[in-house]
Amino acid sequence: MRIDIITVLPGLLQGPFDHSMLKRARDRGLLEVVVHDLREYSTDTRHRQVDDYAYGGGAGMVMMIEPIDRILKVLRSQRQYDEVIYMSPDGLLLNQPLANRLSLTKNLVMLCGHYKGVDERVREHLVTMEVSIGDYVLSGGELAAAVLTDAIGRLLPGVLNDETSALSDSFQDNLLAPPVYTRPVDYNGWLVPPVLLTGDHGKIDHWRMDQSRLRTQQRRPELLQNNPDE
Ligand code: ADE
Repeated sequence: MRIDIITVLPGLLQGPFDHSMLKRARDRGLLEVVVHDLREYSTDTRHRQVDDYAYGGGAGMVMMIEPIDRILKVLRSQRQYDEVIYMSPDGLLLNQPLANRLSLTKNLVMLCGHYKGVDERVREHLVTMEVSIGDYVLSGGELAAAVLTDAIGRLLPGVLNDETSALSDSFQDNLLAPPVYTRPVDYNGWLVPPVLLTGDHGKIDHWRMDQSRLRTQQRRPELLQNNPDE
């Protein structure tokens, strides 16, 4: 899978993909992440301007359509993209089903907004979907693109091994993950639940399922409403 990220702050995206699962995905040739500096597509070669004042006035600059159209034309001439995603707080809220769906695609573009956002015509004519990572406003779309890339990249077949399988993640079955413990058995009198020490895997699986349901009921009861098994 290939993800092209378009940004005015490429420096912000140096690092997030060089560690842990995303590094593994890239090392194994399962994921390619290419970060593009939008300023290189500015029509203004001297100042490399990519934003301008808003028509109608008001504070804040708006990202111009032309540099965005230029880079998208170059990218689209090289391969077919499944989605061109604009990262925006007004987008479709990211959840596990959306990450699952996007992980099945081959080529994605993520466009990071800045300042007051992009000229509305970019949203109307150039992007195919908008994604938000939560109901809060970030100073730009870069960290959101990194989050979305991580959520997608770890799902690619061959990235996780059995132990870290995405199938046991919270949300994968609309349930939160059960609690986990490691050594020591007793820390300050805080004990590991005895069932986990029995070696009885039937019992342990049962306990974990109960704990998942309990935790979901206590913390995110609305998830159970959408669970066909409940
Ligand atoms: N850009 C600014 N805030 C954002 C958010 N919550 N999600 C995605 N992109 C954003």
